[in-house]
Amino acid sequence: MGYAAQAMERTFAMIKPDGVKRGLTAELLTRIQRKGYRVVGLKQFVISRELAENHYGEHKERPFFGELVNFITSGPVVAIALEGENAISGWRGMMGATNPANAAPGTIRADYATSTGENVTHGSDSPESAERELGLFFKPEELL
Ligand code: TYD
Ligand code: MG
Repeated sequence: MGYAAQAMERTFAMIKPDGVKRGLTAELLTRIQRKGYRVVGLKQFVISRELAENHYGEHKERPFFGELVNFITSGPVVAIALEGENAISGWRGMMGATNPANAAPGTIRADYATSTGENVTHGSDSPESAERELGLFFKPEELL
């Protein structure tokens, strides 16, 4: 092939309670849309403990799990379904490293977060996670 294959992907993005509380929703949606991703699902709500524990199930045995669930249910989040070429790794790249101290300049976490626990955004880390998380947060008819 003469050019790199670009896969059209959907991924799950979330503005966490710290981002919503700090009024970053519009700024983050602007970044997403300037990048060229399509917002195919969008809603603001408070996550139940059940959904939080399911969403972060891979971290159940980690020492930070309880705090993570408390934090993610502490206020409204904005759940976003994104579509675009290579959107899964692309959105992860826009967010930057989990620990903002390690996040590259210009990434969301470098620009807006100061701690690993409250790092403003979530993004699915693989096609399997994206499908699982989109299914947890959106009904099929909510994705346009
Ligand atoms: P993880 O899936 O490793 O990171 P990411 O959000 O980049 O996919 O962890 C999920 C969340 O758990 C992370 O965003 C913040 C929280 N967390 C901690 O509070 N302490 C930690 O040491 C880690 C690794 C994560
Ligand atoms: Mg993760």
